[in-house]
Amino acid sequence: MAAALIDGTALARRLNGELKAKVEVLATTGIVPCLAVVLVGDDPASHTYVRSKSRAARAVGIATVEHRLDAQLAEAELLALIERLNRDPETDGILIQLPLPKHIDVTNVLKAVHPAKDVDGFHPTNVGERVTGAGGIIPCTPMGAMFLIETVRANIEGLDAIVIGMSNIVGKPMADLLLSAGCTVTVAHIKTVGLPAICRRADIVVVAVGKPGLVRAEWIKPGAIVIDVGINRITSSDGEKRLVGDVAFEEAAGVAGAITPVPGGVGPMTIACLLLNTFEAAISRRAASIRAG
Ligand code: GUN
Repeated sequence: MAAALIDGTALARRLNGELKAKVEVLATTGIVPCLAVVLVGDDPASHTYVRSKSRAARAVGIATVEHRLDAQLAEAELLALIERLNRDPETDGILIQLPLPKHIDVTNVLKAVHPAKDVDGFHPTNVGERVTGAGGIIPCTPMGAMFLIETVRANIEGLDAIVIGMSNIVGKPMADLLLSAGCTVTVAHIKTVGLPAICRRADIVVVAVGKPGLVRAEWIKPGAIVIDVGINRITSSDGEKRLVGDVAFEEAAGVAGAITPVPGGVGPMTIACLLLNTFEAAISRRAASIRAG
């Protein structure tokens, strides 16, 4: 393996440690940040993610309240819960775990979350503010990916970057963050014609499409930074279940300059950034009461 391994677990541990110290200081003012986590339905992967998020929050001293709701829940009931959480003075952040069941309109739901409590950065107000450079809460996975890139190269101005995947959660905000950092950005997707050759031009490759092993060694420019956002559960030929990314890791690591593993790359950073956003949301919303002492 030629590439340096970008260790997301280690970086997340460091950020969580730093955050824990800040949460402890905040606690001396009587404020404990609180994250409400809303999970609708029984998607096993979502249940696992929510458990991990709650566990990580508690470990840094952030309180969580989980709302696990039936898959048949009416959209109006979900909107009513969000409204209660918006008004609840003890709730600093609201996370609606995606995907939602098909009968629920995800846009309606994400728009219902108060922008100041939208720790995922999915509300149109936060998206608009981010894109126009007016601030805005940054979505956790792209924010975590930027931290990981920064560990390899502090200044990425002028570099060619490709983002493969165009979701609102990862692809689009990731492209925007890379653009803001001065990269020349190509946003590609699974239907892009000539994707391998386009990808091979990039100094930074971020892939988030959910296709195991999509990005092969010959897609990668020698020395490129490769950030694998994919988390795919596969059963290998020997019947063993394991997690793999969207990059054919072993072969890509022979060409890339630096690469994230799956698991242990972007995943822990998504959670660390969620906790950072929750802490920041608590500070911003409660600033007046902190100042009043
Ligand atoms: N589902 C997959 N990734 C995410 C995420 O970052 N936030 C939320 N809320 N749901 C997700």
